[in-house]
Amino acid sequence: MASAARNGAAALMVMTVAVLALGTGGSAQLQYGFYKGKCNGSDVEAVVQGIVKTWFQRQNPIVAYLLRMQFHECVINGCDGGLLIDGPGTEKTAPPNLSVKGYDVIAAIKAELERRCPGVVSCSDIQILATRDAVALGGGAAYSVRTGRRDRRRSTASDVKLPAPEYTAQQTTAYYGRLGLSAFDTVLLLGAHTVGATHCSVIKPRLYSYGGKVGATDPGMDPSYAFVYKNYVCPNVAASDNNLVFLDDQWSAGKVDNHYYRNLQLRRGVLPCDQNLYNDGSTRWIVDLLANNTGLFTSLFPQALIKLSEVNVLTGTQGEIRKVCNKFN
Ligand code: HEM
Repeated sequence: MASAARNGAAALMVMTVAVLALGTGGSAQLQYGFYKGKCNGSDVEAVVQGIVKTWFQRQNPIVAYLLRMQFHECVINGCDGGLLIDGPGTEKTAPPNLSVKGYDVIAAIKAELERRCPGVVSCSDIQILATRDAVALGGGAAYSVRTGRRDRRRSTASDVKLPAPEYTAQQTTAYYGRLGLSAFDTVLLLGAHTVGATHCSVIKPRLYSYGGKVGATDPGMDPSYAFVYKNYVCPNVAASDNNLVFLDDQWSAGKVDNHYYRNLQLRRGVLPCDQNLYNDGSTRWIVDLLANNTGLFTSLFPQALIKLSEVNVLTGTQGEIRKVCNKFN
């Protein structure tokens, strides 16, 4: 009887610990250092960081590639590796994802980790860790992220509903609001456009048919910038559609800094959704705050990325740990 009671108490304790570990939603929680001691003596985060560093040194745009990938990954069904899957009709094939890059660095990290400890590290965690390391290499802050994500067995192009470049500030903040992010977080997140580039095709409506009027240029764009785009970078011929325009000034387009916000103050935002953050009174104060305080963006940007990285994740026994990132097991 006593032993049955002891067994009962022990079972209750095990159950309590299990419930605590699983959290109230029935799925386990993300944790700092989730992979510690789980990869045959390898330090998983150090392995990721080492590979990102090597790639960064030979291919600097990976900061932009990985940041954009984290965005396109996490806003569609959560940070679940769904974007990485190859094949007809997967997320990767949806039109806004066709220009996403960085899959090769994720695959390289996965291959190395599978060699060290097969079936342990999820592709979704690799995406978040790699982006974190790229941001720091690009001049942003180093920050800690929680891990323990699992990969979803779903990747469907028709799920992909991304914000449009023409979004107003209200539309943009509403979009991120639905994911649990505040207007402040939203303005921080779009600060990712401090790195990388867009294709001329995306901004041609601002240059040549603003408001649906043939030949009209957005009067809200710094005229000297509009002149350069129209005459040099994105001339009004189809052949220039694939030319690239830096989202921040060229000298700053590889650096994670607050220069993007200063450009918005000068009407030099490249995408309409960027400039709209300054044009709208409800978000302008945030742009001003981030533009006028050097260092504030650097210290706050990670908070927004972390929130994005924890949207709708799978944990515990949900989903799977893929063997390769571009195929379900
Ligand atoms: C309203 C929200 C957003 C819209 C409409 C938007 C739209 C775009 C567009 C149209 C491009 C250029 C694509 C191309 O021409 O190939 C782009 C590039 C980029 N976006 Fe966004 N974006 C948004 C938010 C974000 C967020 C939240 C992040 C990351 C946290 C992000 C990171 C990037 C980066 C880094 C690039 C440059 C990519 C490269 O150089 O390859 N964007 N974005």
